[in-house]
Parts: sequence; structure tokens; C-alpha cells
Amino acid sequence: MKVLLIGDGAREHAMAEALASSPQGYRVYALSSYINPGIREAVIRTGGEYLKGNINSQEEIDSAIRKVSPDFGVVGPEDPLFHGAADVFRRNGIPVVGPNSSNAEIERSKVWMRQIMWKYKIDGRLRFRSFTSLEEASKFIVDYGGSVAVKPAEQVGGKGVKVVADIQAYLSNEKRRALSKSVDEIGSLVKNEVKIIIEEKVDGPEYTLHVLTDGHTFLPLPLAQDYKHAYQDGIGPETGGMGSISGPGNLLPFINSEEYDKTFRIVQDTANAIKQETGYSYKGFISGQMMLTELWGPTVIEFYSRMGDPETSSIIPRISSDFGYLLQLTAEEKLSKAKLEVTEEPSVVRAVAPLGYPLRRDLATGKEFQLDVRAMEEKGCKVYFGSISYEGGKLISRGSRALELAALGSFEDASRRLDGCIKMISANTELVYRTDIGRTLDEQMEKVEIVRYSYQNRVKRGSLGVSADWAPNGGLW
Ligand SMILES: Nc1ncnc2c1ncn2[C@@H]1O[C@H](COP(=O)(O)OP(=O)(O)O)[C@@H](O)[C@H]1O
Ligand SMILES: [Mg+2]
Repeated sequence: MKVLLIGDGAREHAMAEALASSPQGYRVYALSSYINPGIREAVIRTGGEYLKGNINSQEEIDSAIRKVSPDFGVVGPEDPLFHGAADVFRRNGIPVVGPNSSNAEIERSKVWMRQIMWKYKIDGRLRFRSFTSLEEASKFIVDYGGSVAVKPAEQVGGKGVKVVADIQAYLSNEKRRALSKSVDEIGSLVKNEVKIIIEEKVDGPEYTLHVLTDGHTFLPLPLAQDYKHAYQDGIGPETGGMGSISGPGNLLPFINSEEYDKTFRIVQDTANAIKQETGYSYKGFISGQMMLTELWGPTVIEFYSRMGDPETSSIIPRISSDFGYLLQLTAEEKLSKAKLEVTEEPSVVRAVAPLGYPLRRDLATGKEFQLDVRAMEEKGCKVYFGSISYEGGKLISRGSRALELAALGSFEDASRRLDGCIKMISANTELVYRTDIGRTLDEQMEKVEIVRYSYQNRVKRGSLGVSADWAPNGGLW
């Protein structure tokens, strides 16, 4: 059977690897914007073909489909989904993993997402307001006077979210100007009329639940947590993700099974609501990026219309059943037949970028990496290639996270294994990575107790979501 995979990052490498090693014997074909060394290897190993092109172009996907005539397709990243990649497969009569563009709106438009959550009264929704005028948005923040999260109304490649926690500081004149400036900046990222969404600010541990659905059956994957900040201990600018953890079992050490079940229900309710709104069943991954909060319990921060990256690299290696076949069953709407087995052992993933990432991507571009993947695997690390391309036998960085290394074991063992494997990478630059990922669990477990105690009390009193913060201001929300 032939499968055509769209995408080029570490997530797609992990998917290509799962497809290539499936007992189903798939031939892996891929369309990428550059030659990812890992996807290339999976393609060569299975006798497929590697096509280079614009993954956001319907025409180029269409011609790839005609060329390959795949039995099914898999779309990895969100941008091609927003541009209708899955729609093109379906127009050609090819089953595919990935929502059509109207359903992928759940990720693209943060405003539509919140509107749906309120319309269908889905649990874990935050109060929000959306604005077409940037002045009004700034005025709202000042009038409200509480802590808020200010975001571009639409997904703009994980850029622009500002969490305004210290509102008093912002109210001084100087800071007030700084705030309007940041609102302007966020607004300028968005092309459509609705520019800004402002949400009440919440706090708590974040985690992601990925759910695979064929429109009938929902299959939840094990939880994962990603680490967004560039530097050790969660400081520095936000990045696409410097690593992730998953496990043990289906959970994380600081999320219990009740919270997992509740989160699963939220994601299913949302997929069903999307179907009501658009008329199309949701097919593909729908993933809740969540926060466990005192105010609402399991709370939706945003939805992904695909798998998260770097969450994928910590989840796929923990699936001991055939993940490639799971993708085929999803595409063919036979997910009820699927079997999912997850190892009890946790995993830790560490992303590795050239020095310069994330603020000076120019400096992180064009660096040469050398690594012996087999030797690293013998040390217990899986190597997924991300922002790095195969150019005439050389591995050349592209300015972002070049590699994601995954290791299984207790969190401490896995972390130690990663320490060793990172030393096996040589590059003509220094490397940026975090060694604290998987090593801050005690801290997170202590913090979560307070959150859990509070929201469980709210559940008992029937006051989930009731916030003293907003009522006296005349119902600003
Ligand atoms: N309402 C909120 N309250 C507190 N923190 C938030 C809120 N919304 C977002 N954040 C923080 O900002 C990060 C990015 O926000 P998110 O909505 O996921 O946007 P994106 O990933 O598209 O940049 C989240 O991971 C979370 O840490
Ligand atoms: Mg996010």
C-alpha cells in the first residue's frame, strides 16, 4: 500500500518512521518543502519517492496525488490543513488523516473556537472578548483591570500571545503605552477584521491530549506536556517547543485519570460541535492544549487540528501497537477496529537547535551537523530530524530546532540517556537545548495539589468558573 505524507518536520519524521516500520509494509511517499533526512530514509527504505514542493499549495498537493496515486494520505502540520490539503485528498477520492479546512478552523481561529465552546456550553471554556479595533482592545484591558491573555484572533504561527499578569504595572502611564503598542503589534499580525482576542488569565500546569478520530470513533492517545520556553527552568522567549514528556501510562505524574477523562470528553464534545457547525464530521487529530486551573478545572487554552510538535516525539515511541496502521484505519474510517497499546514507561524529548535559536535564526541557519544515528539508538535515544535538510550528503540546519531526541525509561533515566546522546552530536556551532525537561516533576506535582484542591471545591459548591474578578466591573466580559 502507498501512503503520501505531507510535511517536513520532526513530527512528520516520527510519523514516516511509524509508517515505514509497520508490519503492513507501507511504501512511504512524502511531499516536503525541503529534504528531511529522516523522512528521506523512511522513503528510501520502503521504496517510495520523495517529492519536494510547496506543502501549502493545493495545486502541488493535487499533482503529488496524481503522480503517486496513494491508497491513503496523512497531513502532518497545521498550515497545509488550513490551506485545504485534506480537502484535496478527499476531492481525489483518497482517504486521508486530517480535517478539511473548514474544520481546521478550530485551530486557525481562536475566536471561532471560543464561540463554539460557549455556544455548545463545553466545559473548560474561558471568558473572552474579541475586537476589531485595537484601541477598544486596549481600553478593555485597562477598564477591566484584571489579568488577561491577549492573543492574535487567528493562528499566526505561534506568535504574539501576551499574558498580562501584573495589570497594576500596566496601568501606570508609561506601561499603558507599552500595552497599546503590544496590542497594535499583535493586531498587525492578523489580516482579517477581527484582530484581537482577550481571555481571562488562568494559571496551572499545561498538558496536551491528542485524540484521533475518523468521524465515528474517538481514540485518545497518552497525555504529553511540552516545554515552550527557550531556556532552562522555563525562562526566555517562547519557542515552538524545546521538548516534551509523556507518561507513565496514559497520564502524566501531575494529571489524574479523572482529569484525563474529563479532558477527553471536552475534546469529543468539541469535535461534535464542529460537526454541528460546519456539517462535516471531524476526521484526523483533534488535540486539546489544556491547563489545569483553579477556576475551571481542565481548561482549554487552544485546540490543535493535528499532532503537536514536539509532543509527537514523546508519544509515538511509547505506542507499542502499530501506529502506522492506526493512521490507515483513521483515513479509511475504520477506527473502531483499532488497537492501541501504550508502554507504561514514560518518555522524555529534548529538542536541539543551533546557537542563535530562537532570537537570531540567521545565526542558526546553514550550520553543519554530524551524527551517527545508529550509535545514538544503541545508547537508547531515538533521533528525529526537524529543521535540518539533507544536501548532497550533508546535514544543514535551517534556523530552528534541528533535532528532537527521545528516550524511554523513568524520567530520570531517560533524561540521563539524553545527556549522553547529546554529547554524540557534533556541529560547527554551539547547541541550544534544555536539560531540565523531565526533571521538574516534583515541583509540578506539589503545585498541582493546590490547583486540584481549589477546583474540586468549586465542583462541590457548583461554582466552577465563577470569578469574583469580573463581576463587580459591570459584566465586562
Ligand atoms: N488564558 C490564558 N491564561 C493564561 N495563560 C495563557 C492563556 N492563554 C494562553 N496562555 C499561555 O500562552 C501560551 C500560548 O498561548 P496559545 O493560546 O497556546 O497560543 P499559541 O500557541 O498559538 O501561541 C500558552 O501555552 C499558555 O502558557
Ligand atoms: Mg499553544
